[in-house]
Amino acid sequence: MTYPLQCYEESAAALRSVLGGFRPRVLLILGSGLGSLGDAVEDPIVVPYAKVPHMKTSTAPDHKGQFVFGRLSGQDVAVMQGRLHTYEGWSFEDVSYPVRVLRLLGAEALLVTNAAGAVNTAFHAGDIMLITDHIKLFGVSPLCGPNIDAFGPRFPDMSHVYTPALRDVARRTAQSLDISLREGVYMYFPGPQYETPAEVRLARTLGADAVGMSTVPEAITAAHCGMDVLGFTLCTNMAAGVLDQPLSSDEVLAAAAEAGQRFSALVKGCLARL
Ligand code: HPA
Repeated sequence: MTYPLQCYEESAAALRSVLGGFRPRVLLILGSGLGSLGDAVEDPIVVPYAKVPHMKTSTAPDHKGQFVFGRLSGQDVAVMQGRLHTYEGWSFEDVSYPVRVLRLLGAEALLVTNAAGAVNTAFHAGDIMLITDHIKLFGVSPLCGPNIDAFGPRFPDMSHVYTPALRDVARRTAQSLDISLREGVYMYFPGPQYETPAEVRLARTLGADAVGMSTVPEAITAAHCGMDVLGFTLCTNMAAGVLDQPLSSDEVLAAAAEAGQRFSALVKGCLARL
């Protein structure tokens, strides 16, 4: 379903009534392995998604389904502990719904992370990739349906979804923390099945460096409503067919847990510089 502006306003009003005068500046949507960053938020105000009118809840493993509002790395933030995915049966609009709600609350930037399979054969499992751009060929857009002019134009430019200035921040932060950072293009696949080796070859031919099942709906929606976007991918595994071994979600979660501290340090370091 497409939501009219009134729905977003009702959700924002409900959150305002819980948050008092607190206004988040940065929205963090954290993928597998990084949900624990929400636990580091100071003076947290926790709001389950189920308490926000019109909002759907997350059902994916390791995704808690709650907002944590408060301070992290000196910034006023809203952390989504658990994101929504289209493979859970939610529409693109459902998945990116909270982005617009947070925009109404005053958020200026989206910091988004995900787990993905590495398509670029120079990459290794465990690598962190700064997202420079994305490819989304599948499904409709989160912006389908009547355009809500209050958020942005009918035909928004997507030349710089991942804000160049924030990419510079990421590079500087990674360097200062001695964390090696890959850069590349994230290609969205709807899942929940992992890609076939043929699909991975297709992604590589198209210029993708990693494939995953999230992030793009939220990034498009954030760019549409004028938010800056910074995105990181944790390559938890080589994508299907790169190595002669099957993919498993246990492997993904184990790799995410292993990289968790490094990834958290990078995200917190970037936040401090935003
Ligand atoms: N493909 C899609 N999503 C993923 C993968 C993958 O290989 N690994 C972790 N999330």
